[in-house]
Amino acid sequence: MNNQTAWWKKSVVYQIYPKSFYDSDGDGFGDLNGIREKLSYLEKLGVDVIWLNPIYESPQVDNGYDISNYKKIEPQLGTMEDFDMLLKEAHEKGIRIILDLVVNHTSDKHPWFTEAKKGKENPYHDYYIWKDTIPNNWGSSFGGPAWEYVEETAQYYLHLFAKEQPDLNWENPKVRKEVQEILRFWLEKGIDGFRMDVITLISKDPAYPDGPVIQNKAYGSYYAGCASGPRVHEYLQEMNREVLSKYDIMTVGEAPHTSADEAAPYTASDRHELNMVFHFDHMHLDYDENGKYAKNRVKLTDLKEVMTKWQDTMHECDGWNSLYWSNHDQARAVSRFGNESEPYRVKSAKMLGTILHMMQGTPYIYEGEELGMTNAHFESIDEYKDVEALDIFRDFTERKGFSEKDTLELLGLKSRDNARTPMQWDNTVNAGFTEGTPWIGVNKNCKEINVEQCLADQDSIFYYYQKLIQLRHEMPIITDGVYELLDKENESVYAYLRKGEKETLLVVGNFTDKTINYHIEEKVQAKKSRLLISNYNAAETFERDLSLEPYGACVYLLEAEK
Ligand code: NOJ
Repeated sequence: MNNQTAWWKKSVVYQIYPKSFYDSDGDGFGDLNGIREKLSYLEKLGVDVIWLNPIYESPQVDNGYDISNYKKIEPQLGTMEDFDMLLKEAHEKGIRIILDLVVNHTSDKHPWFTEAKKGKENPYHDYYIWKDTIPNNWGSSFGGPAWEYVEETAQYYLHLFAKEQPDLNWENPKVRKEVQEILRFWLEKGIDGFRMDVITLISKDPAYPDGPVIQNKAYGSYYAGCASGPRVHEYLQEMNREVLSKYDIMTVGEAPHTSADEAAPYTASDRHELNMVFHFDHMHLDYDENGKYAKNRVKLTDLKEVMTKWQDTMHECDGWNSLYWSNHDQARAVSRFGNESEPYRVKSAKMLGTILHMMQGTPYIYEGEELGMTNAHFESIDEYKDVEALDIFRDFTERKGFSEKDTLELLGLKSRDNARTPMQWDNTVNAGFTEGTPWIGVNKNCKEINVEQCLADQDSIFYYYQKLIQLRHEMPIITDGVYELLDKENESVYAYLRKGEKETLLVVGNFTDKTINYHIEEKVQAKKSRLLISNYNAAETFERDLSLEPYGACVYLLEAEK
């Protein structure tokens, strides 16, 4: 398909964490029928695509990223009939659905693995990665070594994530065929694409080299031996040739530890691999010597540098960007990049939306972002459910010597559970998410921040996002315009252009809680200007000097001078 006209370039994706979205049967877990009930809400917001986090049968060690059957729906979430209905009803509303493809690893309860560990002669043994002795210092993402001993085989298997998530051996052509078969199964049902979990890690360096010990961790990093490994492009091209290219779908690969230059071959249209990737460069900007769990705030000049690098590189290679501030693995966008405190929460959430949605790429809205949902800041470790949070708590308090209070503060800033608390629908009990006991606590601010409140307020973040989405649908320049950063060194204001042939967009956002008189560079010339959207009372036409309110954002359409 010609990338110029691909539907996914004009689309806005809404990410749903099914377990936390809406519970239709009162068991405390969100489910597929719950999503069906809320399709009209998503239609009203105007999104084009829904990405569902894993919905397959899973022991839920890592909330569905440990799959025991790729062709069955997790019973907590519903049945295959429920899924079929969801897909049909979404399509009837013009909303596409993409699924999470998790094939770097399976669950240890997947029949492939239960067979594989029976013995070296078992036909499934070679579906996984085994070593007679531990070959390197790699640590798993959720604590402990990345190698686990199995008595039956007297061997160690590799797991980059929890030990219940053994890594598949992609060197084995049978594994690749199985994956193709899974892809076909879902594509034949009519789904519209895949988000591919840690897909850049599927090819391992056969030397299994030691990794550097970084971020004061107990073990070495596996990235050196896994990120964009030697055969990853071959595998993806094969997958594309055999399956993906036969369907009109979108694909987005999760690409940890992948720079913009490394991402180019994954997404460049002439390579026939993926349409776009999720990178983490902007997520790493507030790390410190202990990695993600840090109190740092992102420096705006660093953020501009990273976003600009990706805008430029993807444009030059004819690839495509995924645009996101948050997802199920990250803190809430407004808490991390904006200001979650009143009176700035709503303004800064809208400002962040403006800056992201006017860039080139496909924007992803994580559930609740359109309400300005904030971090949960749980006060006790007992409230946390995530395998990563529990490991960090143990590691920081027992090995690194942090106090429990400090560790809880760090979890409050960065834990994945911040993004996983239930969607806040109204101000009734459990935020209207469930009539039962929610599997994870509801954010305490749900009485003030919820869908009902947002829908009743014409000035809410919801309606602002609705307008951002509408603008993308109506204005080709938002899809095609060439990005140009202005005023690179400015520590407070993010300003950029999107240049088309006849017109230009000027996008400006104030990242501070101060009013700023902002002078637009002289080189930005316009005959006429028109305000397209703003989160404050910005002037209707563009003047050289803009008075930006705290967290103020505005977008002007500039007509070129002739
Ligand atoms: C990335 C997913 O987004 C995350 O939630 C999961 O824990 C790991 N991959 C392992 O599948």
